[in-house]
Amino acid sequence: MYSEKVMDHFSNPRNVGEIENADGVGEVGNPTCGDMMNIYIKVEDNILTDVKFKTFGCGAAIATSSMITEMAVGKTLEEALDITRNDVAEELGGLPQVKMHCSNLAADGLRAAIEDYRNKQNIKK
Ligand code: FES
Repeated sequence: MYSEKVMDHFSNPRNVGEIENADGVGEVGNPTCGDMMNIYIKVEDNILTDVKFKTFGCGAAIATSSMITEMAVGKTLEEALDITRNDVAEELGGLPQVKMHCSNLAADGLRAAIEDYRNKQNIKK
């Protein structure tokens, strides 16, 4: 039911953990199932230099979170904001339709972290 890539990212998730002194933190909950995720970002010159996550969710949530961290590092904030849940699912070789809602956590979490970063920057100015 899951692609090899999903199983790989589920079994060996990349970039798990917390970034100390993160520039932005996103915390989102999935209204469909109640699962949660935190995502932490480091930003330099408008580029994401580090992205880490902690997901309290199912296997598909772990796999999509892991994949989005790999996709986001090295991108500008604008490019990262353009990553959709479908992009993540595609990169993983597809997700079962009933698990598509799980990929919202990763995409929404990354957006929330970027928003948090931008809010903090505005406060500093
Ligand atoms: Fe909750 Fe997948 S079932 S994120």
